[in-house]
Amino acid sequence: MTWDIRPCASIEEFAEAIGVIGHYFGGWPGDLERAQQFARNLPLERVHAARDGDRIVGGAGAIPFRLTVPGGVVDCAGVTVVGVVPTHRRRGILAEMMRVQLDDVRRRGEPLAALWASEEGIYGRFGYGLASLAGEIELARSHSGLRAPRAEAARTRLVTLEEAKSVVPPIYDRVRAVTPGMFERSADWWETRNLADPPDRRDGAGEKNAVVLALDGRDAGYALYRLTQKWEAGSSIGYVTVIEAMGDEPVATREVWRFLLELDWMASVKASLLSVDHPLLHLLRYPRRMKMRLADALWCRLVDVGTALSARTYASPDPVVFEVTDAFLPENGGRWRLADGRAERTDADADLALDVSELGSVYLGGVSFGELLRADLLRELTLDAAARADAVFATGVKPWCPEIF
Ligand SMILES: CC(C)(COP(=O)(O)OP(=O)(O)OC[C@H]1O[C@@H](n2cnc3c(N)ncnc32)[C@H](O)[C@@H]1OP(=O)(O)O)[C@@H](O)C(=O)NCCC(=O)NCCS
Repeated sequence: MTWDIRPCASIEEFAEAIGVIGHYFGGWPGDLERAQQFARNLPLERVHAARDGDRIVGGAGAIPFRLTVPGGVVDCAGVTVVGVVPTHRRRGILAEMMRVQLDDVRRRGEPLAALWASEEGIYGRFGYGLASLAGEIELARSHSGLRAPRAEAARTRLVTLEEAKSVVPPIYDRVRAVTPGMFERSADWWETRNLADPPDRRDGAGEKNAVVLALDGRDAGYALYRLTQKWEAGSSIGYVTVIEAMGDEPVATREVWRFLLELDWMASVKASLLSVDHPLLHLLRYPRRMKMRLADALWCRLVDVGTALSARTYASPDPVVFEVTDAFLPENGGRWRLADGRAERTDADADLALDVSELGSVYLGGVSFGELLRADLLRELTLDAAARADAVFATGVKPWCPEIF
């Protein structure tokens, strides 16, 4: 069966379409106020609704992002609010929505799509590959000491969320510029998401706090965090939840984390969505104590293989020829030669045969061809092809997406 899938044409349709995923969060179907706020970051026509008669039974959105990739920035569809009502599940609606959405993304000229998956088993079949990891930690205050002494030049100050709107975004932008996997945030995005603090999103914790770290008077780092204060047998068992913390240079990162790790009364610090190569591992005297757990973060999909591969930079101009299969978007399939940072169609013999989802995995530099080879996910057609491709795709930094969208 084929379903009637079209972009939303009114805020009421939009509210109903995003309300489908809202059902799984406990319910906000048709909530117009929430929809108006969502629409500040997600244009109405970027949400596709699946209809059964006059009822909307599925929704899938794509935020028009500018995403940092190695050596550049690309237009990227940030796939979000994907859901199908439970009465219509497993009847092919998601598959149909993904097809219509990817066709639309391609038509708009966005060469890349990216998402956070609610469940890891869903998106591989649509050509998405696991492209970055995120770490979650819980560190007891008793073992949170840093190896390096405090920087004399460092000063912290608490700011209101209103003040943060002008101070924090430029710091984020400097980190974003050099970190694959981070996306541009508009003023609306900051206001409605990162610097908003609706009481129903506090989950039992206190209000959202913002701290800014200056080095020699220059604002160089910040953290957004909450405190949860609890007492047991007369002692505090409270903890800090780090929402986001970063610095635009190593000392700033270290000192903003020192602030978080030294907060009085707090028995522990919890953080998630940390980059897999986060410097804390090397900053802490007892790194094992942060008990870092890793999980999949961004999933990437090359919507237009040639344009996407040509949009990032490479560590070497050496040629690599890929034989790509793409069952979902067959126009991507075939042989591609990457050389001097440009990817073009070719008849030359291929070095590596792989699915487009595997190209999505290596694209941001978070996964190597060697890892995929050892997982039997690609085939080497010439000697040491995976190692040669890794030398071309090498980046100095792991991708990091600090926010689920
Ligand atoms: C996940 C969800 C969107 C799937 O929608 P659906 O219309 O039932 O999916 P489809 O019938 O189109 O399934 C397409 C394929 O995906 C598979 N699939 C669907 N949901 C899956 C899941 N949660 N895990 C693994 N595979 C899944 C189906 O088995 C089918 O496989 P096939 O290609 O081998 O036939 C829907 O169940 C839902 O809304 N879940 C709760 C919200 C959610 O998780 N949304 C995703 C946010 S990232």
